[in-house]
Amino acid sequence: MVTGSVFGLIAGYSLAKRSPWVQSERMKIDIIEHEGPYQVGVIIGSLSKESINRRLANALTGLAPEGFEFFEISYADLPLYNRDFDADYPQVALDFKDAVASADALLFVTPEYNRSLPGALKNAIDWGSRPWGQNVWAHKPVGVIGASSGAIGTAVGQQSLRSTLSFLNARQMSAPEAYIQYTPGLVDDEGRVTNPGTEDFLRQFMTAFAEYTVRVLTVIPQS
Ligand code: FNR
Repeated sequence: MVTGSVFGLIAGYSLAKRSPWVQSERMKIDIIEHEGPYQVGVIIGSLSKESINRRLANALTGLAPEGFEFFEISYADLPLYNRDFDADYPQVALDFKDAVASADALLFVTPEYNRSLPGALKNAIDWGSRPWGQNVWAHKPVGVIGASSGAIGTAVGQQSLRSTLSFLNARQMSAPEAYIQYTPGLVDDEGRVTNPGTEDFLRQFMTAFAEYTVRVLTVIPQS
């Protein structure tokens, strides 16, 4: 831990900046130097074995800049949350929260269900938000993206997810937005994007998400 310096290094370039209030003699704060590689937890909003969002997630992790590593955070075994669990959280929920807490950032890749986020995903987010005062989502750098077969590409579902993440005080990247209309074969079995324009767009999205993650972790001291 150091006082008075802020660093962020990814992929060979630096976002190092000195905040005016870090330099101030009147207000000194402790800044934790955050060094890569950054560990990103991927949360896929679909439990389907054939999920197009899982395919999209596989493609995205391959398009990220160097210095970022990805691991999936599964929530398939969580029971339905109710507050009676708060006094004695089940191990599966503790493990889920630990996995989220261990991530430097989170990438949500989700379908839209009936113009909202899928219920299983909302259930997982609820587990992570409790017991009261132990909200694991707070201050996490978060990216949101999704694919559907429909023309609006999860736009409404993402807004529902963003509303919940906003209440839970996650640090969401608000731009660029990414609504992917999935056509058959868009991502092949090896995780390659078969449309060059889409590949380019997704690479830009992941670069922006990487830069955003570094910025959030640099500006906000992590406790
Ligand atoms: C859908 N689908 C869908 N698509 C959409 O664009 N807007 C919507 O509101 C919905 N609603 C919806 C509800 C339910 C219960 C299902 C099962 C499906 C279609 C959805 O985009 C499509 O099934 C995707 O393939 C789901 O993503 P995964 O599971 O393949 O990742």
